[in-house]
Amino acid sequence: MPIIQPAEPGQGKLLPVTGHYVVEYLEALKKRAVRVYRVTKTASGEYHAEAIDPSAVLGLSGAERDQKHFLVERDWMSQAFAETDRMDTLLAPLVRLDPQERSRAVSALKTALAELKVKKAEPEAKARVIMDTVSQVFLLNKASLKLKVSDVTIHEKTLARDTDAIMGTALEFAEDPALMAGLFSCFQDLSNGQTINHVLRVFTSYTSFLRRYQGWHQAGLSRNLRKVFPSVYRRTYDALLPGLEDRLMTSDQVLQLSDLGFLDQKEFTLGAFLHDIGKMGNIDYFESDLAYDAEQIQQHVFLGAGLILMNYGNSHDGARMMAGDHHNALGHPGGYGLTRLERERGMRKSVPTLRVLGSDSRSFVSGESLGWLPVEMLAVVDVYDAMTDNSRSYKKGMTPAQAVVFLEETMAASGKLDPLLVDLYIDELRLRGVDVPPDRGYAFKTKA
Ligand SMILES: [Fe+2]
Ligand SMILES: [Fe+2]
Repeated sequence: MPIIQPAEPGQGKLLPVTGHYVVEYLEALKKRAVRVYRVTKTASGEYHAEAIDPSAVLGLSGAERDQKHFLVERDWMSQAFAETDRMDTLLAPLVRLDPQERSRAVSALKTALAELKVKKAEPEAKARVIMDTVSQVFLLNKASLKLKVSDVTIHEKTLARDTDAIMGTALEFAEDPALMAGLFSCFQDLSNGQTINHVLRVFTSYTSFLRRYQGWHQAGLSRNLRKVFPSVYRRTYDALLPGLEDRLMTSDQVLQLSDLGFLDQKEFTLGAFLHDIGKMGNIDYFESDLAYDAEQIQQHVFLGAGLILMNYGNSHDGARMMAGDHHNALGHPGGYGLTRLERERGMRKSVPTLRVLGSDSRSFVSGESLGWLPVEMLAVVDVYDAMTDNSRSYKKGMTPAQAVVFLEETMAASGKLDPLLVDLYIDELRLRGVDVPPDRGYAFKTKA
């Protein structure tokens, strides 16, 4: 459809959307008085855009709503987001500090956290201090990012090293179930739609998921999966790997569920912490099929990965790839990411795909695996968090029950998230006390 600009002055660029989009965001569009236009074709073949009351879309048939025959102001959603996200305000004073001051601040926070570990205090109170501390560390990291490698000084390097050490402390905290429960109960206060709060929730949830995974792994997850794979998962994975030889279609071949030692866990925790560091204050953190500005959103993974390489150096490939590839969606055309971009540019050679989850980054980079375990775990946690976030000014969040159905029936079924990891995450949520349906998840599907 040609771009149509209504002949009214003062209008921004317009985005063609479907009727479903208008229905989905109806409340927010009305509340913010966002102009909605309907495009019609005249008998002589000309297009006309006419301003409509967005509620009128409710009276249209499904087929009419399917068409991208509506226009909305392109920036309305990012404006709504920017109005509620205070990240820029929080960052400004930290950006003004000199590098040494920021580095000292992180070092002090590292010491404070280490001391907190041995302090006797209520888990709830401790949890609150941890959240505040981690939030400050994130903002200080963000304020220290450089666009040129020549701008990175010893202070940024020290700050990165201290942040890495803080990840180790965070993992040790995660061993205490009462403290983890305290951290999760802080989530209620972290639901005001801001990027920093998304980061804190994803970081905490991911750390918990990682530890739970390792527990399951040690308790024989792979052995159990081998038995149930043909009857429970085989069909789903057939769809993800069409044409794979029959003899290769086993759980051991298709899913390399590696053992994650402390150092691996620390690196992946760092990756979850920094995964959206390339995000600017005014962009949303989940790209739905109705993305309002895909290009702007996509930038955050390339920027984030580049920034981690600069400040953290090349010994943090894991964290860098988690930032760069957490929207890869197992290579689905609807996803995007650094590794895939490098492949498209001919910087990476591809080999035939043999599995869904690889145990190391190399098999993902070569294309032998559609995804890499820690990155795909992050993708599941990230999407769940974005879908359940109830606080964005333009969209209502899903309930946990709706979100897990969405993860399984939309994201995993279309090949964008790994089906096994989705099921394991549903179990993880249940164990955390989240109200998810009893008839979903790995434990339910595989019980004899
Ligand atoms: Fe992201
Ligand atoms: Fe995210």
